[in-house]
Amino acid sequence: MKQHLLYEGKAKQIYATENPEQVIMYYKDDATAFNGIKKSVITDKGRLNAAITQELFTYLAANGIPTHLIEQLSEREQLCHTVTIFPLEVIIRNIAAGSITKRLAVKEGTRFQQPIFELCYKNDDLGDPLINDDHALALGLITPTQLSEVKRLTLAINTLLQHRFAEVGIDLVDFKIEFGMKQDGTVVLADEISPDSCRFWEQTTARKLDKDRFRQDLGEVTQAYEEILARLQA
Ligand code: TMP
Ligand code: ASP
Repeated sequence: MKQHLLYEGKAKQIYATENPEQVIMYYKDDATAFNGIKKSVITDKGRLNAAITQELFTYLAANGIPTHLIEQLSEREQLCHTVTIFPLEVIIRNIAAGSITKRLAVKEGTRFQQPIFELCYKNDDLGDPLINDDHALALGLITPTQLSEVKRLTLAINTLLQHRFAEVGIDLVDFKIEFGMKQDGTVVLADEISPDSCRFWEQTTARKLDKDRFRQDLGEVTQAYEEILARLQA
């Protein structure tokens, strides 16, 4: 079923299948931060991120969000619809953390009056710079109709995920998602939603349960990813 490697990113690989409309996504244990400057392996991360993404994409799909996911094939592999990924990192921030605390001098932990929608241009050579809607449209990274759809879906995803994580005692601080276009032109959620791509804080203690444990050398990284999966599966 799994054929040649089509693409390798920092944390995943994409393989062709005999069906050109389907690919296999394989989750690695490799971890990077600061645009690849810091590199390591997080034991079991691939398995945990595949399982967490499986839980969340299934939940979102059940609530009307179209996704690229077809089914989980093994601990680290998912069968997905082939999509053309928009070269955009779509970010939502509910609570201040990470880059925005420096860029706008907002104290970490400040809850924003409304969710902040951000776009970054996915380009490693440029370090994924922050851009606005006009940049994305002027550079032809996405069409106006597709961008409206991405925004609508992203705000709906934020509401659904905030609710899902609140149920298990976790604040969804911020997250990054990616969208793609299927061969029939539909815009769908793609890539992953995991502790690599979100910030999760335990509500009672503000304990960080995400990749910031790796970025900031806080220790117990795998345990944090395990904790997220366990709560979602409880
Ligand atoms: P930031 O505060 O570093 O800009 O990150 C915002 C969110 O996006 C956070 O949940 C982590 C996630 N993220 C990624 O998934 N990939 C990245 O390359 C970066 C920089 C952030
Ligand atoms: N994924 C990004 C990198 O490789 C950054 C991050 O997640 O902090 O470097």
